Amino acid sequence: MATKINFNGEIHDQLSISVLDHGFLFGDSVYEVVCTFNNQPCFLDKHLDRLFASAKAISLNIPHDNEWFLEQLKVTLGAADNDESYIRIIVTRGVGEINIDPSTCHSPNIIIIVMEIKEYPEPCYEKGIHVALVSIKRNARDALNPNVKTGNYLNNVLAKMEANKLGAQDAIMVNPWGYLTEGTTSNLFFVREGHILTPSLDCGLLSGITREMVIQLSKENGFHIEEGQWPGEELYEADEIFLTGTIKRVMPVSHLDGRPVGSGKPGPVTLKLMRLYGDLIKKQL
Ligand code: PDD
Repeated sequence: MATKINFNGEIHDQLSISVLDHGFLFGDSVYEVVCTFNNQPCFLDKHLDRLFASAKAISLNIPHDNEWFLEQLKVTLGAADNDESYIRIIVTRGVGEINIDPSTCHSPNIIIIVMEIKEYPEPCYEKGIHVALVSIKRNARDALNPNVKTGNYLNNVLAKMEANKLGAQDAIMVNPWGYLTEGTTSNLFFVREGHILTPSLDCGLLSGITREMVIQLSKENGFHIEEGQWPGEELYEADEIFLTGTIKRVMPVSHLDGRPVGSGKPGPVTLKLMRLYGDLIKKQL
């Protein structure tokens, strides 16, 4: 079991990169987090599509195609030889002058980190986690669009710090107009009177791959699911809340701002979707 780092096609045990890389200096980079099941990357096509879309959105040209990424992932996963892996694919603007102008960066750097996956502890799924509605806002879509997965996560880091100070494990952010968006590295769903609700993309959030799968599963299994805009306070009326993401999968929320959500235990809709999503991942292979 090991951590391996692929740097522009070469595999290393450890890696130092230039302090003049604009990914380091300005967060000028894009990235994806992928997990494996049976040591095969899950939903890889979707992650690569989003990586290329994010790069395009910041005018960053990735000089490789999907085939190249597939090959690099295969050799890096082979070298790491983990039971299951966490994969982080990062493309930075590359090395340039020490000023904000990206035109001095001529060659993007592509870094693929493969390490043993650290799953969330089982009690999180059995009992649910605590979240806080924080004061830090998710960016407006015409600022740094949250639907572009860049390496600039300071907004979310600040939200997470605020949540931790409030004794919660994660934060829920609203947009500048007070409408619900998402968690710091996950999408938000809530249940009211049996209906599943999730903020729509126009609220300013990442179009999560797990979110997309959960929406599809909900429809296929006869749930009423709605994407829309809801003010932050509406979350206090929820019977159930859950978060979705590549590493979290479907994670129940038991407490919001220190108060129990519904019964204070994972509710029936959340439990059903946790099961359905678990089955879907197994069916991918
Ligand atoms: N984060 N929203 C944000 C802000 C995210 O960073 C993520 C993923 C998601 C969920 O997307 P997906 O279902 O495609 O993983 C939503 C990854 C896991 C991370 O940065 O670690």
